[in-house]
Amino acid sequence: MRREAVAAALALVMTIGSAGVASAAAPDTAGTTVALSSPDHRLTVGVTTRGGQLRYSVERGDRTLVLPSALGLRLTDGSTLGTGVAIARTRTTSRDTTWRPVWGADAVVRDRHRELTIGLRQADGRRFDLIVRAYNDGVAFRYSVPRQAGLPNLQIADELSEFALAGDPDAWWQPRNLAFDGDEQLWQQTSYRTMGDTMIPATFRWRDGTHLSIHEADLVDYAAMTLVRESGRLRAALTPTPGRDAAVVTTTGRSTPWRTLTIAPDAGGLIDSHLLENLNPPCAICEQDTSWIEPTKYVGIWWALQHQQYTWEEGPRHGATTERTKQYIDFAAAHNIGGVLAEGWNKGWEGSWADQDFTTPADDFDLEGVVAYGKSKGVEFVAHNETGANIENYEAQIDEAFALYERLGIHYLKTGYVGQIPGQFTYSQRSVNHFRLVLEKAAQHRINVLCHECVHATGEMRTYPNAISREAMRGQEYDAFSAGNPPTHTVTLPFTRMLSGPMDYTPGIMDILWDPQGQGRRVHTTVGKQLSYYVNYFSGVQMAADLPEHYAGAPGLEFIEDVPARWDESHVLSARVADHLITARRAGSEWYVGAMTGDRAQTLRYRLNFLGRGLYVAESYTDAAATDYETNPTPLAVNRSLVDRDDTFVAALETSGGQAVRFRRATAADRASLPRYVQPRPRVTALDAPATAEPGDLVTIRATVTNRGSVPGGTDVVMTVRGTDIRQTRYVRVDPGSSETVLFQARLTGDRAVIVVGGRRIVVRLVRPADPVPPPANLTVTRFAGSVVALAWGPVPGASYQVFRRTADGVYGEPLATVPAGTTSYVDDTVAVDTTYAYVVRAVVDGRVSIPSNEVVQHTTPQLVQVTWRVRVPANTPAGDTVYLPGSLPELGPWDPGKVAMTEVEPDVWETTLSVLEGTTVQYKYTRGSWETVESWGEITGSTNRSVRISYGTTGTQLVDDTSLDPSTPDIHEAVRAWIDIPPG
Ligand code: NOJ
Repeated sequence: MRREAVAAALALVMTIGSAGVASAAAPDTAGTTVALSSPDHRLTVGVTTRGGQLRYSVERGDRTLVLPSALGLRLTDGSTLGTGVAIARTRTTSRDTTWRPVWGADAVVRDRHRELTIGLRQADGRRFDLIVRAYNDGVAFRYSVPRQAGLPNLQIADELSEFALAGDPDAWWQPRNLAFDGDEQLWQQTSYRTMGDTMIPATFRWRDGTHLSIHEADLVDYAAMTLVRESGRLRAALTPTPGRDAAVVTTTGRSTPWRTLTIAPDAGGLIDSHLLENLNPPCAICEQDTSWIEPTKYVGIWWALQHQQYTWEEGPRHGATTERTKQYIDFAAAHNIGGVLAEGWNKGWEGSWADQDFTTPADDFDLEGVVAYGKSKGVEFVAHNETGANIENYEAQIDEAFALYERLGIHYLKTGYVGQIPGQFTYSQRSVNHFRLVLEKAAQHRINVLCHECVHATGEMRTYPNAISREAMRGQEYDAFSAGNPPTHTVTLPFTRMLSGPMDYTPGIMDILWDPQGQGRRVHTTVGKQLSYYVNYFSGVQMAADLPEHYAGAPGLEFIEDVPARWDESHVLSARVADHLITARRAGSEWYVGAMTGDRAQTLRYRLNFLGRGLYVAESYTDAAATDYETNPTPLAVNRSLVDRDDTFVAALETSGGQAVRFRRATAADRASLPRYVQPRPRVTALDAPATAEPGDLVTIRATVTNRGSVPGGTDVVMTVRGTDIRQTRYVRVDPGSSETVLFQARLTGDRAVIVVGGRRIVVRLVRPADPVPPPANLTVTRFAGSVVALAWGPVPGASYQVFRRTADGVYGEPLATVPAGTTSYVDDTVAVDTTYAYVVRAVVDGRVSIPSNEVVQHTTPQLVQVTWRVRVPANTPAGDTVYLPGSLPELGPWDPGKVAMTEVEPDVWETTLSVLEGTTVQYKYTRGSWETVESWGEITGSTNRSVRISYGTTGTQLVDDTSLDPSTPDIHEAVRAWIDIPPG
């Protein structure tokens, strides 16, 4: 809608008044236009019936955010509500109240909005209302269909609600995928116009910094919303119920969920918003005692399961034994952690996980004893119900199970839904109702629910504050069993997934590179970032996910002990989607800050003006200077100093790095013993270079950078050579009271070079030796792939050669290789895929070394590799004609058990060859063409994939040989030794 149209609409609303009744009863082509503005008048929603079609648009100030977009419902009888429609009446109300959640990001939430109810009449006489709300932080609309003759039930095929965004904002979204793990994908970043069908929330950013997130609120007895692209717009697409025309079967006399547009002038505003909670009904369970609803931290027998160190099912490596759970309880009690989760405490984990018994403990697990032991130490037992997506089996047992848990005093329950819910999607109406049923029943039994593989949250924590957290995202577990979550994923989640509600990312990994199976797994952060999650990520339960033995001696443990799970006040201090986030939260008189980065190292600064007056102690845990995301992600700089609200704190962070700070009021003893905070401003304090060099040589320059501040500092150090265009910049982080050496290298020519770094200068004289060795000419790259770079150069008479590759420091150091006289080529097969490398070569004659050759730079681009999978399928496996290879490649899947047939090349040995892009990590299994007969090996059953990373080598071929001569070998990655039956489902 144009601005004039909105203005006209506003005028109309003013003339209609707050309970006006427009005379139009039949659709007319000019239609009627009405509008509603937010309490601060910044946001305006216009609604029009022009041409008989109900539409809305949204403006923020002068800017149109949502172009006229259709509204309405499509019913299964082919009719629609929203077309052929006229406005019969309107009513505007406003509200400004506050409410106190049982727990939340803020102890007090303001609900200030204006609401416009538009009574609509269809040409065929049917009636419904469009209810529009405008808050200062967003707008929302829903349909309300009253009971009326001829329309007792509503069979909704889909919604017509559109979101036609103006312009082409940046978009963060997840491809629409209704599989149970559809919202466990990585976030895509594209522009709005190039995005595809998506899950929600979906987040958008215009160039002027305006951010908008589309989601839904108050999802009750309805199908969850996704968004599909139609004619360049996004349309609300209700999750279907397989085998039924109606996505939603319901009665009239109810409202549909709110369609929400959270709108903010910056990225942080999206996170600070309480729009979704405000759009949900008040607490439904607060008439009764709610003292059992308490945010907490928990540890669990969990991370070692994800890493296949323990098993869920009973057996020699069973994780959840009584003894081990008690050890975890001891650890929790000693470290101010309120709960202990033990997955696999119950019977029924063998096979597909779908037929579990939620009341019978495993033989080696004493449920009553463990719960009582926990109580004696002030630690809650967090029960676990993995349903295997069998919601019927769960509902059949839920009353008995929850009654048992209540009797034992269990107040926390993690649920899980791995797999496809039979006959449903996780987002279908029946499933949505199941998740609500679990919350209601749990509340009756005083149980907080932490739901994994759940439908997305929609602000229901206001109504059911026992919805203590949920997953509905790609959590940290992916770092244990897959290529993992890249650094940007974890800085995208707060601006996307977390907008829907609390999220159980399971932070707190200290042993970042732990890879007990040697599968190349790691967590894609530093330890500093793990600690920052406790503040940046909002959740009613926060896990300390690592193993107790990994916390022993870890400097970050103290922060995990101190950080609360319950908050009184929260503010985003600085944010950019997928780049960085700084959040401050208050608990009582203490403040906590988390700062984190994505895929680039950067120094962030934030004012401490959120603190009260007087001195506080800042206890900070920051990536140390030695912290290196790739190779050394664990070091932390732990610093304590006195700060006040006029200070500016600094977080000098590594790639995927972080800082966590506790600010507590300073005591007299603190004032006497701790230093006053000094803001770090690292400076170049010394500069060094050789006094002389041969003209044309690469000269190394060393700058010493010193930080006299109280916490790690970071700065860009710039080196220039006067009179040339040589200019190099290096980002360096320096520990407090310490120095770092920064290296530069420049090819110097002429007689004299004046080098300037950080305001200091040094002069190098260039002197030609009497008998110089000529440098190798014409260094070239003769061949490259993702895992190889081949070089060749012109000969120098009588010379051997030194090959240099530029290191991560950005300079050439020691030779990579020495090449004997007579050879003028070298193949570097120690490169990584998708990385840029630079090389020079020096000639050596009689111990004298030449200046370097020309420099060549090569990016290791992945190439197609012919990969042969070979497997020995012993005769003791179930009979079947053909062996198949399903896997994670499009050629192999998507996980189709009969996709690629293998050929028997000799008795019992089967092969197939495919072209795969180098650098790809392929997950795969072998089958007999059905999931019922899947290979297994060692103690790991067939539900675990094998994995292989494709490399080019020198031939462009690769053999994945799963064939072993000895089928009884204990090596888990060798021959297929048995086939197991996995029930279909
Ligand atoms: C997937 C969940 O996300 C994970 O946390 C849990 O350990 C397993 N399912 C088993 O229930």
